[in-house]
Amino acid sequence: MKILVVYYSMYGHVLKLARAAAEGAQTVAGAEVVLRRVQELEANLPKLQASKHAQEVLARQQDIPIATMDDLRAADGVIFGTPTRFGNMCAQMKQYFDSAVDLWAQGALEGKPAGVMVSTATTHGGQETTCLTMMAPLLHLGMIIVGVPYSTPGMLHTEGRGGTPYGATTVAGGKNDLEPAPEDLEIARALGRRVAKIAQKLRG
Ligand SMILES: Cc1cc2nc3c(=O)[nH]c(=O)nc-3n(C[C@H](O)[C@H](O)[C@H](O)COP(=O)(O)O)c2cc1C
Repeated sequence: MKILVVYYSMYGHVLKLARAAAEGAQTVAGAEVVLRRVQELEANLPKLQASKHAQEVLARQQDIPIATMDDLRAADGVIFGTPTRFGNMCAQMKQYFDSAVDLWAQGALEGKPAGVMVSTATTHGGQETTCLTMMAPLLHLGMIIVGVPYSTPGMLHTEGRGGTPYGATTVAGGKNDLEPAPEDLEIARALGRRVAKIAQKLRG
């Protein structure tokens, strides 16, 4: 059973959520976890090159392959991670979604469980809107949305940072200088585990 964790991260926060979700999924017996980053946009390269922080984060991701449509096709369950851009998913992730039109036409993703993960700069910067708007294309693709129930440790003790029932989240800070709280990472692990367990049940 393949569980795909696919994400975009410029300053490392979503990368940390993605690694935590991958850890969580890996704890489920029979899960083979595939970690992938989505393709960068050419228009974003000057911004990347101008930021030492972004360059360091990029260097940390060199061993993670770029996601393909075959990764999506082969997956039994998927966790998508994105930073917020004006309350919505980033264009890099949207580009990946928009490339799935053939998979949509073939119904290739129908019935597969999917969870979402989001990072925002500020507490009220759009975690929930990004999670929810990201779910719309997943529903078009026929995926089964997996959220985070409140019985998950950390959901009631997140001190105003990450942790929503819609997906695993974190707050990066206005200068991208915060670290995901331990609870944020625990919730990301729980989401990875939950997607993998549901994928296993759906496979029968
Ligand atoms: C174009 C743009 C739009 C953004 N819009 C928002 C926003 O609406 N709300 C918010 O809290 N942060 C916003 N941010 C900040 C990013 O969400 C933040 O840098 C990101 O969560 C950090 O994640 P990363 O470390 O994985 O890149 C925006 C950043 C950019 C570059």
